[in-house]
Amino acid sequence: MSSDKRVSELRRKKEEAKLGGGADRIVAQHQKGKLTARERIDLLLDQGSFVETDMFVEHRTTDFGMERKKFPGDGVVTGYGRVNGRLVYVFSQDFTVFGGSLGEMFASKIVKIMDMAMKTGAPFIGLNDSGGARIQEGVASLGGYAEIFYRNVTSSGVIPQISAILGPCAGGAVYSPAMTDFIIMTKKTSHMFITGPEVIKTVTGEEVTFEELGGAMTHNAKSGVAHFAAEDERDCIATIKRLLSFMPQNNLEEPPRSQPSDMPNRMDHELGSIVPEDPQKPYDMRDIIRHVVDHEDYFEVHQHWARNIVVGFARLDGYPIGVVGNQPAVLAGCLDINASTKGGRFVRFCDAFNIPLLTFVDVPGFLPGTDQEFGGIIRNGAKLLYAFCEATVPKITVITRKAYGGAYDVMCSKHIRGDFNFAWPSSELAVMGPDGAVNIIFRKEIEEAADAKAKRDELVADYRAKFANPYIAAQRGYIDDVIEPQETRPRVISALEVLQTKRESMPPKKHGNIPL
Ligand code: HXC
Repeated sequence: MSSDKRVSELRRKKEEAKLGGGADRIVAQHQKGKLTARERIDLLLDQGSFVETDMFVEHRTTDFGMERKKFPGDGVVTGYGRVNGRLVYVFSQDFTVFGGSLGEMFASKIVKIMDMAMKTGAPFIGLNDSGGARIQEGVASLGGYAEIFYRNVTSSGVIPQISAILGPCAGGAVYSPAMTDFIIMTKKTSHMFITGPEVIKTVTGEEVTFEELGGAMTHNAKSGVAHFAAEDERDCIATIKRLLSFMPQNNLEEPPRSQPSDMPNRMDHELGSIVPEDPQKPYDMRDIIRHVVDHEDYFEVHQHWARNIVVGFARLDGYPIGVVGNQPAVLAGCLDINASTKGGRFVRFCDAFNIPLLTFVDVPGFLPGTDQEFGGIIRNGAKLLYAFCEATVPKITVITRKAYGGAYDVMCSKHIRGDFNFAWPSSELAVMGPDGAVNIIFRKEIEEAADAKAKRDELVADYRAKFANPYIAAQRGYIDDVIEPQETRPRVISALEVLQTKRESMPPKKHGNIPL
């Protein structure tokens, strides 16, 4: 065969591989409102940057007549490319080939690029759309999954890992995305569950639809499994790109500073009017966050779940930061089981990838109730405490109003190594709120008073004047400074700048034992 012929044969083979399961199945994929594996990669990566690996890989199963059904590439597109100029590794499951189901060779393609991502220190992105374990391949398929799970864990905290769920993701297959850093689900077209509606009906008698059981909003609002709900696939890919913009390539690099374009010294007079005079009244902590960060640009993570705490990314003078805030607009900002889990996981991500933490505090305590106690608020609340204690990235805290009880300690207080702890004049740092405190310590006096209400009001006013302020904590150095709300941005930026050279580490150990 002439060399020209060989080259044209190669080209023909590559074109064939690009068709996946064939034209009809591509039409069916589009009819479901989904893009193909390759269209997704084209959307994600900078134009012309994709370099494919293992295009000719085929399965080697001979059972169930599989030897007659082979598709080059075996149902997953793998390789590397660039997102805004930065290297990433990616796999994209091709539902048009055996429903994107995962077998031995399919898994080995993913494993190869996971290993490359680790060796070169670049983020790893999975675009999932699969019927799960390839049934014809049996245990070889389960082994393939486990090889991926293992690498998800070894990569955790070394390179960022992001999962998009763009179709079915069922059974044990969900555990690979679950061990990555962020999960984005598309509304209507994606589903995640361990056991499907049919199995649930047989075992428990419950009737539930696919969407109720494992749709995007179920996992964004109810279970907290997913971090983002995308309107469609384009929105999903845009979310991946935005997330990457805040992250370093790996744990040995600093997150990328963008050209600062918002004035670092900008005073913000509106900050003074967000917290209501009445301490019982709610406000939206995100308003404060937006007024402080660059260009009011705050990228919220886990927006729909555990809304009594808010977490997300932003920039200060161009430096990426992770922001955590109690949310007085939901459950008065109390910490509960889900809020602690959400906050703890976010703090640990930021710490793993050198992203400084800015924490806004307005917390009346932990949420009371038997639900919370029986559900293990002690064990779960400890996760957030543990995460803040363990974090060695720059930690800056701003108390806007309440910082009561154990929750004061938890929310990145000075005692657990907050680097700069500021409080607004509206702050109240105490063991508990004035009403609760007076009821306990002056119970007798109130009972014995001729006018119990007047006595109580007087004692509450006294307590508020004495304790419900930032100055006692400031006298002890627990607060580095009481600052005017309007100067928050310049003060936190100045703190962040001096912390650029912060060096702190935990004692050497195999790993800690976070209360899971
Ligand atoms: C082999 C599969 C497959 C699978 C789908 N296909 N799932 N082939 N193994 N797991 C094939 C179908 O035979 C079909 O082939 C093509 O993919 C498209 O599937 P359809 O059923 O026509 O598509 P749709 O109606 O959209 O339904 C999609 C689906 C359904 C909901 C995913 O296919 C389904 O329920 N599949 C089985 C899911 C499952 O139980 N997987 C195992 C989960 S347990 P043709 O040739 O007809 O086009 C698991 C364990 C992981 O994954 C453990 C890890 C530790």
